[in-house]
Amino acid sequence: MRKSPIGIFDSGVGGLTIYEEIHKLLPQESIIYLADSKNAPYGEKSKEEIIEISDKNTAFLLSKGCKLIVVACNTASTNAVYYLREKYDVPIIRVQPAIKPAALNSKTKVVGILATKGTLKSELLFETSQRFAQGVQVVEQVGEGLVSLIESGKMHSPEMDALLSKYISPMIEKNIDYLVLGCTHYPFLTPQIKSLVGDEIIILDSGEAIARQTKVILEQEDLINDKPTAIKRVFYTNKNTAVLQNILDEFDENLKAIKIDF
Ligand code: DGL
Repeated sequence: MRKSPIGIFDSGVGGLTIYEEIHKLLPQESIIYLADSKNAPYGEKSKEEIIEISDKNTAFLLSKGCKLIVVACNTASTNAVYYLREKYDVPIIRVQPAIKPAALNSKTKVVGILATKGTLKSELLFETSQRFAQGVQVVEQVGEGLVSLIESGKMHSPEMDALLSKYISPMIEKNIDYLVLGCTHYPFLTPQIKSLVGDEIIILDSGEAIARQTKVILEQEDLINDKPTAIKRVFYTNKNTAVLQNILDEFDENLKAIKIDF
């Protein structure tokens, strides 16, 4: 079991921002990544649909022998992780928007969160804000269209710049000093967002925290691959491979996107 891969899924390429941190921290682990781009964006779907899709993705990764599953999608994490943990025996790690550190460290007592509709309307987000953001105003903004642009290879485009400016300028006017990226696709946009918010506003995502959490759970469960040989990193997509391959090329030229019917 220790040699088995870690399974990661997302509604597309966004979870690669989590994969990157996990691989950095745990280079001895094999990883299977599933980009369920055919069903993106999840953020526009009902809770029931998100549960059904997340269940299917988890079953797929388990059929490939994964020892632990990382739900590298905020929308699926906030809506489906309770269900998945009930149903499956393997450890299931979820991602969560970094509202807690933002609220704890905010000096202006106003923080912004950019996320999908599915994440912003979830109970988990509501509970997190209630618990950790007392006395802090949380300015919520739906990043409608951002995931679709990234999934169609338009990460750097005039449409993207226009949407980002439309969503972020009102938050700057409300005096936020932290901007939480509550969708795993958004860290790809950090350079563009930084040029809008400048140095005064701190941008937070959850990649490193999730990688640390994955390591802790593997250690607790005695699942760390302590005799690494023939490490595999496999990347599946159920849509066209070009968008996934472009990003993989930036990580490491040996990584290959594989098309599957799924
Ligand atoms: N990466 C997903 C997330 O973190 C995107 C969700 C979507 O497909 O709308 O929420």
